[in-house]
Amino acid sequence: MSFDLILFGGTGDLAWRKLMPALLQAHRHGTLPANGRIIGVGRDDLTHDQYRQRIAERFGRVEGAKQPSADEFARFAQLLHYQRMDLSTDADYPALAASLLSRRADTVVMYLATAPNLFAPVVQRLDAVGLGGRAASARGHDAWRIVLEKPLGHDLASNRAINDTVLSAFAEHQVFRIDHYLGKPSVQNLLALRFGNTLFEPLWRREHIAQIQITLAEELGVEQRGGFYDSTGALRDMVQNHALQLLCALAMEPPTSADADAIRDEKLKVLRSLAPWDEHALLQHAVRGQYAAGHGPSGAVPGYAQEAGVAPGSHTETFVALRAQVRNWRWAGVPFYVRTGKRLAGREARIDVHFRPVPHTVFATAGPAAPNRLVIHLQPRDGIELHLMAQGDERGAQRAGVLSPVRLDLDFDRRFGAERVGAYERLLLDVLAGRLNLFVRRDEQEAAWGWVEPLLAHWRTSTEAPRPYPAGSWGPGAATALLARDGHAWNEDA
Ligand code: BG6
Repeated sequence: MSFDLILFGGTGDLAWRKLMPALLQAHRHGTLPANGRIIGVGRDDLTHDQYRQRIAERFGRVEGAKQPSADEFARFAQLLHYQRMDLSTDADYPALAASLLSRRADTVVMYLATAPNLFAPVVQRLDAVGLGGRAASARGHDAWRIVLEKPLGHDLASNRAINDTVLSAFAEHQVFRIDHYLGKPSVQNLLALRFGNTLFEPLWRREHIAQIQITLAEELGVEQRGGFYDSTGALRDMVQNHALQLLCALAMEPPTSADADAIRDEKLKVLRSLAPWDEHALLQHAVRGQYAAGHGPSGAVPGYAQEAGVAPGSHTETFVALRAQVRNWRWAGVPFYVRTGKRLAGREARIDVHFRPVPHTVFATAGPAAPNRLVIHLQPRDGIELHLMAQGDERGAQRAGVLSPVRLDLDFDRRFGAERVGAYERLLLDVLAGRLNLFVRRDEQEAAWGWVEPLLAHWRTSTEAPRPYPAGSWGPGAATALLARDGHAWNEDA
């Protein structure tokens, strides 16, 4: 299969940090179709060789096994091409069109790794020179796709506007909206755990589950992205997409098949079942925080307000904790707690599923009785732990029938090797193959924006500042209080 992959934003941060390394890995693994061109598009005046040279320099700075040997890079570099374009100039598009239309590759993928305000104008200009997906279909070429990076808009209205323009030039099945969490092996394993086994399904409901916690914690701050982040915030950056996708994977009904639409239909139902934000919930079920000076992974770090690009007195949240409710028969009354933040005490993405306590106690326990809990570690560890109660091996405890907590521990990195296919590698290969399962459909994305919208509006107009928390902590005390009101606590054990 021949392909043309055009990376708009080919000299940008995402291309260097994620896309090129993912493509190189796929090339190494022999999974990238052989007869391909990867065309980086940028504003700089570069020859193909200068572009290859720049990428080689970047890879030179990569640590360890991910660094390609000179031979490996030379083979990969044969795929790399460069096209200079100013994306806001009409006259720069016909050359790209001529190159793509004359080669007639089997698959053509346009990847918009650009600022989101360029999505709509770029799509219109592509369409004007015959590079839209609908035009390609009319020419009998259906493997013609577009990839859109997040954020797709900054609220429901801007999301709809982008989707309207994109869908005027491409059909829905040609549009691949990225949420890179869906590409993580650990997230795919969540669906495998639920729908590839019978064990959990009978228990996966309100009668047996008391509460679910989703934690997406980062140790780093906003790094070099202060300007972008200050107009975005954690709710848009992490909750509207990644956290809600995880919530969907946890709460959805079993799909009728593994087809993209069968899965996306079920996720959509979850999003539509989320309890909307009323006044009580806005005040009681959502906490926003902002990090103050404190400690990062390698010493003292400044607060968010001191980061480059952040507006003075900014109310942008770097931490969010929420209590969500899925209003259907399976989940009525089961709180789903979500928290995410930058500059927290550790880098950890995990899900804790808390089962209900035993209905009648016949054993004594060493310490407080711990109801069963399933912990799904997403990163940096990838694995599953099942917390149970068992008779300890200590003689006294055995005699007296005293139980202690134990855990069954399945480490996927050890089982499958830590060198598994990375999120972007998987997603790029899926785009080339036309597999839509791990991409977000328009209606799903709009439902997610629609759900966060009242909270965005509430925080935009609120005079109350986000609650400060010291860098290196687990967030503001109000996030602890959010669970304490229900008699629960966040799980922070290793
Ligand atoms: C991105 C956010 O979508 O996800 C970043 O824009 C965040 O702010 C990143 O750091 C987290 O991704 P990961 O894969 O490192 O958990």
